Amino acid sequence: MVLKGRIFRGCVCSIIAAAVGLSLMFPVFFAETSLSEKVLVNWLMWSRSSGQSLSDVERELNSENGCQLKVYMYPFPRRFNLGMLQQTEVDQDLPWPDGDFLPLWPAESVLEKQHNVEYWMMLDLLYSRVGRHGDTEVIRVRDPEQADLFFVPFFSSLCFYKFGLSMKEPECEQDKALQEEVVALVVDSPYWKRSGGEDHIIPLHHPNAFRYHRNLLTASIFIVADFGRTLPQVSSLRKDVVAPYTHVIPTYEDDNSADPFNSRKTLLFFQGTIKRKDDGIVRTKLANIIQNQTGVHFGEGSTNATGLKQATLGMRNSKFCLDPAGDTPSSCRLFDVISSHCIPVIISDKIELPYEDDLDYTSFALFYSVEDSLQPGWLLSQLRNINRVQWLKMWTRLKEVSHHFEYEFPSKKDDAVNMIWKQLRRKVPAIKLKIHRKQRRKIEDWWNW
Ligand SMILES: *[C@@H]1O[C@H](CO)[C@@H](O)[C@H](O)[C@H]1NC(C)=O
Ligand SMILES: *[C@@H]1O[C@H](CO)[C@@H](O)[C@H](O)[C@H]1NC(C)=O
Repeated sequence: MVLKGRIFRGCVCSIIAAAVGLSLMFPVFFAETSLSEKVLVNWLMWSRSSGQSLSDVERELNSENGCQLKVYMYPFPRRFNLGMLQQTEVDQDLPWPDGDFLPLWPAESVLEKQHNVEYWMMLDLLYSRVGRHGDTEVIRVRDPEQADLFFVPFFSSLCFYKFGLSMKEPECEQDKALQEEVVALVVDSPYWKRSGGEDHIIPLHHPNAFRYHRNLLTASIFIVADFGRTLPQVSSLRKDVVAPYTHVIPTYEDDNSADPFNSRKTLLFFQGTIKRKDDGIVRTKLANIIQNQTGVHFGEGSTNATGLKQATLGMRNSKFCLDPAGDTPSSCRLFDVISSHCIPVIISDKIELPYEDDLDYTSFALFYSVEDSLQPGWLLSQLRNINRVQWLKMWTRLKEVSHHFEYEFPSKKDDAVNMIWKQLRRKVPAIKLKIHRKQRRKIEDWWNW
């Protein structure tokens, strides 16, 4: 009885306060619903099975951040997720167990790593119950009835790299087959049927991830890199969440020069593939204008160890780093640049960025239109006009925000994975409103909703 009250007090946060406020005003009414009992029983069973003491559970429920997003993760066979990384003798049809050791991302998978947000989210959920107080935005629930959102643990980007990269039939059979299975599994779930998938989270970060069948899941919340290669009815900022790439350049930990403005000798740095498709054509045009100009490094790059080392040093020694569109509006480079504390110069008219409801990128990045940037002399004169004081202000802010772009395990407060959960949590009230109306509504909306 004592716990019951605490559970709900702990869960009040600004986001859901409105939804539960009424219940709190009428504790008698609330005590009679079975919801709180169910939560309690679940937590107790969970705490016993995991060896966590009741006091831990209580503390978790009462923590200041007791308004964590509650997520149910489907118990998919491991061949859909961590099993792709860790082939063992264990039956691939079994889900990855809780509390088991978690496989590290393999060091050789540099390209695949850029899109591995799916891996970090799953790790965070597998780990979300163990001794974590107030530093995490998410709690994994065992009982789907308690969930705000449902996580579909399918590594769609890794699956593309492993089984679909050639983009030719029949070599992509396995990528396609796994996608088919995922669709069959989720649409058969009663929770999918209830919402039409609107409260389901599906990581889909690589532009070709889930390419055969994502059209069947368009109601769901996709975790994406950008919207460059999808139709607006499939993926959009309205329903989806933009997540950072995992940077491949190491974080500049000891960036403590007494005079960073002057010690960063290069004015503008770019190293990467110069010839790209689609909007990436801007790279060739920029090369023609600014390559070989004073203060500029503009060179072909490579993702092998030597190339990454050169880029690391180059970004750390530059005041500004160019981030032009690649094959898609976004690229991993932006996040390499941020982790090197080099002020990003974004030239990509269709880019979308992570967590823009929390961050104002103009305080630490520069945005120029493709049209302006391609006028001879224009871009470099803009950059040369930024004085030391203005630059230092941006650099200081960049250092402050850079931890929001770190994927790490265990996750820490306000790091990348927690920022993503935060975005998802903000979507919950609107999703619930829709699902609840849908459940009781008998006719189509007759007024302009
Ligand atoms: C810059 O210099 C290099 C080496 O001399 C040359 O190959 C390249 O074509 C030059 N780029 C431009 C745009 O002039
Ligand atoms: C890395 O890539 C560059 C450019 O493609 C190449 O010249 C160089 O030999 C490569 N280095 C190694 C160690 O593979």
